[in-house]
Amino acid sequence: MSLKKNYVLLEDCRWQDFAKSSENEGLKTSREKSMKWDEDLGFNILKVEEDLYSQDPHDEDYHSRAWMGLPFQTLQTPYSEIITTLNLLKDFRVKRVIDLGAGYGRVGLMVKLLRPNCDFIGYEMVGERVKEGKRVYQLQGLNPQWLKCENIVEESFDIPESDIYFLYDFSDPQDLKVVLDQLTENFFQKEFFLIAKGKAVNSLIQMKYPVLYAAHGRHWVEDTDCVIYSSFIDMEELKKVK
Ligand SMILES: C[S@@+](CC[C@H](N)C(=O)[O-])C[C@H]1O[C@@H](n2cnc3c(N)ncnc32)[C@H](O)[C@@H]1O
Repeated sequence: MSLKKNYVLLEDCRWQDFAKSSENEGLKTSREKSMKWDEDLGFNILKVEEDLYSQDPHDEDYHSRAWMGLPFQTLQTPYSEIITTLNLLKDFRVKRVIDLGAGYGRVGLMVKLLRPNCDFIGYEMVGERVKEGKRVYQLQGLNPQWLKCENIVEESFDIPESDIYFLYDFSDPQDLKVVLDQLTENFFQKEFFLIAKGKAVNSLIQMKYPVLYAAHGRHWVEDTDCVIYSSFIDMEELKKVK
């Protein structure tokens, strides 16, 4: 499967049709569908994850931070969720999307599909995942430089400006706090959306970062565990998006 073919499918926002046709092929859940997409796009994730895990099977702290040793479809957001969520923001001007803890770079692939002129940066600390992601980006005609091997909680790391940040429970609460502190600094002077996926990050926001939802509310994306926050747009606006 090439990304181009899917782009044609998605051009008229006919993702639902595509999902339906996948169901007809017996691919029931979004994770199963995503696994098929991974294969078709040329990913070799099982091999990379097995090699990674066998390198140091006893470092539990690193494994939990890097989401290692888990069924690898839980490590990444299903393609359908990324599409549904990004589509909710389709009416807004978006020049750049940043994924904080990017795994193999799925979000970047979907950005290319839905917003071909948009820029993307995916930061990921596990070098082997970045290498595999870059290989597939090259294969699919995306810029491999979009994926960067970085530890985003290092003191020296400054989060670049972006219109959308995507953050899926990338690590433990302490690490999440480092990133949320940076994102919420001078919050109302910046204009961005934050898509936060997962229980850990959204509970932390609920408890410690009311600034993210006090003024503009938040939007729970149907059938996903993604929540959208914004520094400048009232989240009621998203209810109107068709
Ligand atoms: C749950 S996965 C999400 C992957 C991708 N964003 C998605 O939604 O498909 C989180 C990723 O963050 C990475 N990660 C954890 N701590 C990190 C850090 N300090 N800097 C960069 N990446 C990190 C993990 O290795 C893992 O690949």
